[in-house]
Amino acid sequence: MSSQISVCFVCLGNICRSPTAEGVFEHYVREAGLTEVIRIDSAGTSGAHEGAPADSRSRDHAARRGYRLLSRSRRFVAEDFARFDYVLAMDQRNLESLVALRQKAPSSPARLHLFRDFDPDAPPGSSVPDPYYGGGLGFEEVLDQCERASRGLLETLVREMSPDQGR
Ligand code: 4NP
Repeated sequence: MSSQISVCFVCLGNICRSPTAEGVFEHYVREAGLTEVIRIDSAGTSGAHEGAPADSRSRDHAARRGYRLLSRSRRFVAEDFARFDYVLAMDQRNLESLVALRQKAPSSPARLHLFRDFDPDAPPGSSVPDPYYGGGLGFEEVLDQCERASRGLLETLVREMSPDQGR
């Protein structure tokens, strides 16, 4: 394995989807014994919930599957593009906000993608829909999608860090 790789998951409020993605991906990374090599964070494009814990509905649904969501909401800032190798947006609107913010950090090599692009079974351009104003099914759907995309993301990162890559 080569040196550390860093990932930041980004949604709007950083209280539902990106903390879920962070908690699920952390779980998989821990299971794979890679906590020392993959650094994980999350943030929101709005900053409206700055300092808040993850939404209690997100935490409850995640806990039933064995995931702990421990993050506190923070706003994604232009400087973050220099701090992460991968910046992963939950939906098209988040992606557009990030593309606009990136104009303030034009030389950053961070790779900006939709998170679900790492799910080989999701159609290109798929979003993780915002569950905030909906019911419990939305939170379960977010978990399903985060699990599938996290598996694909971990496979991609492991391939990228492998000394055999490109052979
Ligand atoms: P998130 O969900 O972007 O997945 O954290 C939302 C949280 C809060 C709001 C919207 C979406 N809000 O309008 O306050």
